[in-house]
Amino acid sequence: MERGVLRRLVVASNRLTVATDTRARAGGLAVALLEVMQSHGGLWFGWSGKITAKTPAKPTRTRSGAITYATVDLSRKNYAEYYNGFANRSLWPLFHYRLDLTAFNKQNYSGYLQVNTLFASKLRPLLEPDDLIWIHDYHLIPMGEELRKTGIKQPMGFFLHTPFPPMEILTALPSHHALVRAICAYDLVGFQTENDLRAFLDYVVHEADGGMMGDHLVHAFGRTLKVEVFPIGIDTEYIVKTGLMAPRSGLAKRLMTFPGDYDRIIGVDRLDYSKGLVERFHSFERFLENYPAYRGRVMLMQIASPSRSEVPEYRDICRVLEAKAGHINGRFAEFDWVPINYLNKSFTRHNLIGLYRASRIGLVTPLRDGMNLVAKEYVAAQNHHDPGVLVLSRFAGAARELDAALIVNPYDFDAVADAIASGLEMSLEERRERWTAMMETVRNNTFQSWGKSFLKVLKKAPYE
Ligand code: F6P
Repeated sequence: MERGVLRRLVVASNRLTVATDTRARAGGLAVALLEVMQSHGGLWFGWSGKITAKTPAKPTRTRSGAITYATVDLSRKNYAEYYNGFANRSLWPLFHYRLDLTAFNKQNYSGYLQVNTLFASKLRPLLEPDDLIWIHDYHLIPMGEELRKTGIKQPMGFFLHTPFPPMEILTALPSHHALVRAICAYDLVGFQTENDLRAFLDYVVHEADGGMMGDHLVHAFGRTLKVEVFPIGIDTEYIVKTGLMAPRSGLAKRLMTFPGDYDRIIGVDRLDYSKGLVERFHSFERFLENYPAYRGRVMLMQIASPSRSEVPEYRDICRVLEAKAGHINGRFAEFDWVPINYLNKSFTRHNLIGLYRASRIGLVTPLRDGMNLVAKEYVAAQNHHDPGVLVLSRFAGAARELDAALIVNPYDFDAVADAIASGLEMSLEERRERWTAMMETVRNNTFQSWGKSFLKVLKKAPYE
């Protein structure tokens, strides 16, 4: 993204990343935003990651290169209600179509609104008249509306990193009306896929009495805003370069010299029920049942980095997965081979890229996912002479762009088992053909181009 743009960029997100942190993360919002902020410069506002007895009067300000950080600590009560409570026990499951896991609670909702109001009030004095404001994700939906209440007229954009649920699911949320009204306080709203945009428009037209006016313009709740699809990308060049070096260092080198002649399948996810890990283990078990010739010859390495462990549903899934991995290993392992190498911890990005490159299959089978950057990173990390195969859930946003992957329904264990077998048997020619098509997409749509295209549209606001 070009430097020297006259308007300052102000980004707000729940989580922030400083450059040195990126190694510990498997991808996602915070890494994407770091790329955008590093190339554009500006102010990055959000939660400090700290829980303190009392929120200080002013945000803590620090600087790193072109980025000024302004961060706010949260009280234990705010954190419990806003982050663990409403964001991750109401909005997250609901936005991932999991009404069965969605818990509604007035107290949590009020904590969510309080933190959004608090963030707006702490950011307000730091804003300048020409700023471009870009707020991110489900944690901070009402923040824009709160800023508008204080008289903020600057162009304000919002990007939803998760899916947007169908109207019939969203309306189960008692505060659905207020939530969508808050979304309409922005000038530009970005979604990951056409599917998410359609669901939003469906709500606007059928529940909010709003209307579409052409050229991506929508009128609802007395405002006119633009709504568009901006699928998020990855830092492709970094992954390609790191992939090239990876076999000479780190874990990939150790793995390749490790005794044992078997093909590796890799899965890398946050430990989250939306990622379909239990279903993935079922499918892998089905693969071992249906294709016995592969026993002893294939290993699934599943990395599940711990996530949101104070939320009960996340602790439950952790137990279920441990039991399932233990069951499959107990059932099929031999003295010199185990089918699943289940790693409940985080790895550096460098090591992950090496592991992607050293794996014949990338298994990315979420039940629902906004985009899933692991799918894109797996593709970018491959050796172009001998690329691996991506097996990808149709319910990941990435499936819209990476249609040359083996696209599967993660609920259909037999079909996933068949896709694994097809991937292992696929000719070099077909692997290269599919990979070349996916790589073109991954090269054309990067973090950088994603940020650039969103901001290009945002700069033209207001659109009336
Ligand atoms: O969109 C969901 C998301 O923000 C991802 O971008 C990111 O990987 C993940 O959630 C982080 O979750 P948390 O901040 O709860 O660790």
